[in-house]
Amino acid sequence: MAEVSLQNLEKVYPNGFQAIYDLNLDIANGEFLVLVGPSGCGKSTALRMVAGLETITSGTLTIAGEPMNDVEPKDRNVAMVFQNYALYPHLDVARNIGFALRLSGMPKAEIETKVGEAARILELESLLHNKPAQLSGGQRQRVAMGRAIVRDPAVFLMDEPLSNLDAKLRVQMRAEIARLHRRLAATTLYVTHDQVEAMTMGDRVAVIRDGVLQQTDEPSALYDSPDNVFVAGFIGAPAMNLRRGHLRSVDGDWTIQLGHNRLPLADSVLTERPALAGYDGAELVVGIRPEAMEDASLSDNNAPRIVVDAELTEALGSDMLVHFYLDAAAVDTGDPDVLDDLEDAALMIARVDPRSPVRSGSRIELTVDTKRFHFFDPKTNLAIRS
Ligand SMILES: Nc1ncnc2c1ncn2[C@@H]1O[C@H](COP(=O)(O)OP(=O)(O)OP(=O)(O)O)[C@@H](O)[C@H]1O
Ligand SMILES: [Mg+2]
Repeated sequence: MAEVSLQNLEKVYPNGFQAIYDLNLDIANGEFLVLVGPSGCGKSTALRMVAGLETITSGTLTIAGEPMNDVEPKDRNVAMVFQNYALYPHLDVARNIGFALRLSGMPKAEIETKVGEAARILELESLLHNKPAQLSGGQRQRVAMGRAIVRDPAVFLMDEPLSNLDAKLRVQMRAEIARLHRRLAATTLYVTHDQVEAMTMGDRVAVIRDGVLQQTDEPSALYDSPDNVFVAGFIGAPAMNLRRGHLRSVDGDWTIQLGHNRLPLADSVLTERPALAGYDGAELVVGIRPEAMEDASLSDNNAPRIVVDAELTEALGSDMLVHFYLDAAAVDTGDPDVLDDLEDAALMIARVDPRSPVRSGSRIELTVDTKRFHFFDPKTNLAIRS
């Protein structure tokens, strides 16, 4: 086992395109760190530099304290699991799992022991003599994991290993990989574009955008205290509602103007973030998580209220999602997936009590908990937190 340290890593491809800027990440011994971000942001590039499949333009990579920049991939003691886990179709499960060991010239008996062990951990024992064509997608993925496990690597590198599976299997394999990680406790760097996967699997999650690391934290910290507008909009489903608002103080009472709604702010909003006072009369970005709003008819708190028309409601059983328009300007978070659909960006989403009688097309009064608002500087996009 080993810790992995990326120090000021940069990647410029031969065509001059810079895919990674000054990347700093420390993955502790035994830690499961997830690197997440939109398509094309540089996740695979970063992972491949750790694996040795891409050269490092500048910066230093160490594994277990040893500089790795110029070490051959096979000598880095890492094992990689890819999205396209091409298995050898003519070899059975046992031979697929043991393939790399045979190449390395390991004695046959030893290979058998190792393959048997991996098969037991991955519950593939009864399938050892099946060919890949006779396996389900999840079983094939487990074989791919087996190929990595038998090598006893110091570090596992996984690049979207679940993205070829259907939604249900993906959830199941997520849990299996987490269980496997608890059992092997091997240092793991896991790449995905799926923030739910990142949040459910990672000990810590590193969010990257356009080759620039945005924030690295435990999942709950990313959710509760996003450092900037991008992370705020990227982490969480449904996403945080992000709107432009105006802050105003009249006789010591603070309000936030969101479109035609003027909401009084709880005193604690300002006492906990004195820097907000500097935005008196100015515009800022307000972030409202869907669960910071509630159907006023089912809420006994005296939080400020807004009246909205429900464009669409989604009864999820555990929650009711209410989509509605608010006349405050939406914010460009920089997440290409969100901005593709401007219609969606203009809609707000509240997550209310499932007992709410609200239905699509009806009017609803919502309480809005201003103590749970997030605020960001509109120029820097950074959180205003102190
Ligand atoms: N060999 C290359 N030469 C030039 N540019 C490249 C090369 N490989 C990747 N890129 C570019 O570098 C950027 C990052 O690519 P990378 O594959 O790391 O993204 P990613 O985050 O893994 O995306 P995805 O989620 O789609 O897999 C992209 O803009 C891509 O077009
Ligand atoms: Mg990729």
